[in-house]
Amino acid sequence: MYSEIDNKKLPVHVAVIMDGNRRWSKENNKNKFFGHREGMKRLEELIETTGNLGIKYLTIYAFSTENWGREKEEVSYLMDLLVEFAKLKSRVLESKGINVNIFGSIEELPPKTQDAVKNLCKRTKNNNELYLNIALNYGSRKEIVDAVKNIIGEYRENNEIYNEIDEEYIKNFLYSKNIPDPDFLIRTSGEQRLSNFLLYQLAYTELYFTETLWPDFGKEEYIKALKEYEKRNRRYGTS
Ligand code: FPP
Repeated sequence: MYSEIDNKKLPVHVAVIMDGNRRWSKENNKNKFFGHREGMKRLEELIETTGNLGIKYLTIYAFSTENWGREKEEVSYLMDLLVEFAKLKSRVLESKGINVNIFGSIEELPPKTQDAVKNLCKRTKNNNELYLNIALNYGSRKEIVDAVKNIIGEYRENNEIYNEIDEEYIKNFLYSKNIPDPDFLIRTSGEQRLSNFLLYQLAYTELYFTETLWPDFGKEEYIKALKEYEKRNRRYGTS
């Protein structure tokens, strides 16, 4: 299946909004949060395929700042699932050369989720095969607001920085500093919106929307999406 892909046309950085888990539960007559668990399996496969293809960066939207508004039971289900993912998968992620980073403020997460996630990041910090960024308690507008505040802080110390502020300077205050912007964004489940995800970074990203619900988004669907990316003509606003 990999042979169907032109390696030279692969994205360097893929971002994914894993949407449709609860609809999947409903359609499959499962407990209403079971789709998240099934979604975690697809996430594991996504990471594996991304690594095997040699794609260097993968950023996934696991929990947004807005997701706190969901019922308490669902929030704790997701927080527990994250602990499970971080604990059970840390060995395999470490051995496969995956470097895990978090985009978002993890201080607001339950202590056990914080600990598990921090350990996972620590354990994989020297790896460099695939950089896996997990957006967790992440909101792009908040990321930008925090960047503005930090830049103002720097300006107060030294107002000569004013002339240095450009797009690159701002980028250095975002979670994604040091990494290239996503080339390709995939959103599953038919919704066609960005939902406060990487608004600064997605300026020239190719967008891909599929009706497939996240728990049904297997390797074949991923390859199909990447083949679609191969066909895109990226112009970055030029002719
Ligand atoms: C959106 O589906 C999905 C989420 C809010 C959570 C994403 C989480 C996973 C894929 C689970 C595994 C992740 C980790 C890191 C453990 P939805 O619930 O909004 O579905 P709906 O649109 O059908 O309601």
